[in-house]
Amino acid sequence: MKRWFRKHPSGTADAPEESLMAGEIEQPRLIGEPVPAAGTNERKSKGKETEPLASFEGEGPGIGEPHQQKSVESASDALGQPILAVNDVHRSFPVGGSELHVLKGIRMEVLPGQLVMLKGRSGSGKTTLLNMLGGLDQPTKGEIWFRGQPLHKLSDVKRTLLRRNQIGFVFQAYALLPLLSARENVELSLRMAAVPASEWKARVAHCLELVGLAKRMNHRPSELSGGEQQRVAIAKAIAHRPHLLLADEPTANLDSQMGAQVMSVFRNIIESEQVTICMTTHDPTILEVADHVYEMVDGKFI
Ligand SMILES: Nc1ncnc2c1ncn2[C@@H]1O[C@H](COP(=O)(O)OP(=O)(O)O)[C@@H](O)[C@H]1O
Ligand SMILES: [Mg+2]
Repeated sequence: MKRWFRKHPSGTADAPEESLMAGEIEQPRLIGEPVPAAGTNERKSKGKETEPLASFEGEGPGIGEPHQQKSVESASDALGQPILAVNDVHRSFPVGGSELHVLKGIRMEVLPGQLVMLKGRSGSGKTTLLNMLGGLDQPTKGEIWFRGQPLHKLSDVKRTLLRRNQIGFVFQAYALLPLLSARENVELSLRMAAVPASEWKARVAHCLELVGLAKRMNHRPSELSGGEQQRVAIAKAIAHRPHLLLADEPTANLDSQMGAQVMSVFRNIIESEQVTICMTTHDPTILEVADHVYEMVDGKFI
């Protein structure tokens, strides 16, 4: 499979976030990609192939530093090693002068190539956990390891870079930009990950084809059905070749047929894009597609 090469974003880890934005695209920020940041990060080999990282244009410190070729596989990519390991994670929020204890000692593992589902009623803590698996939030206590990196310890800047390069997000409400076509929406994640412009056209076409929407690439979200919009959102979430795709209730707004299409796309991209998927759902009918289901009740797995 053809993969692009990225320059290495070797700016200082503590560079102000604005310095990255200065030379970057002028697009509204998406849900799940909350704050761009400069910093040091390394994209490690995903299986057989090697993926040096790109420098973000206009980033400030570190621009022009040499590309780094990773020749050593991440230990967590070794056969059978988890891509995600969660160890006794707790999360509390201060609410009205006291602490709301939402996650109460979560332990889980996700292996490469798995489709793992977090099931549970509304309010049980699924989104809170998914946000931490994607480095959007950090535990009050406990550890989260992603491909051998301690997400619970990384700075905001490092987590932002890691998300941008290695993780894709899909949300219940699609999170597409309404004024952009399907093609432009998918292209956006390539811009965000500093993929060279020469790669965009083929990669966007490939991703939209993977989700069965090659013929809709010039349609705006309002010209697509809910299921089609969600499939564009999936194409967008995998365009930059993330190792991990996190999806929060991706079928909740869809009828059962459209939901089944989304699940079929998930199954296909695990094979064709070598991605690992962790999603939340409260829909019992789609659980059979999962390799593993964790059931959450009141902040704990049962
Ligand atoms: N930032 C926050 N501040 C306070 N309470 C929160 C916050 N985020 C989530 N919660 C609370 O945590 C509980 C679990 O929420 P959530 O993870 O969204 O559940 P689910 O996704 O399973 O519906 C809810 O009671 C919610 O109100
Ligand atoms: Mg939720």
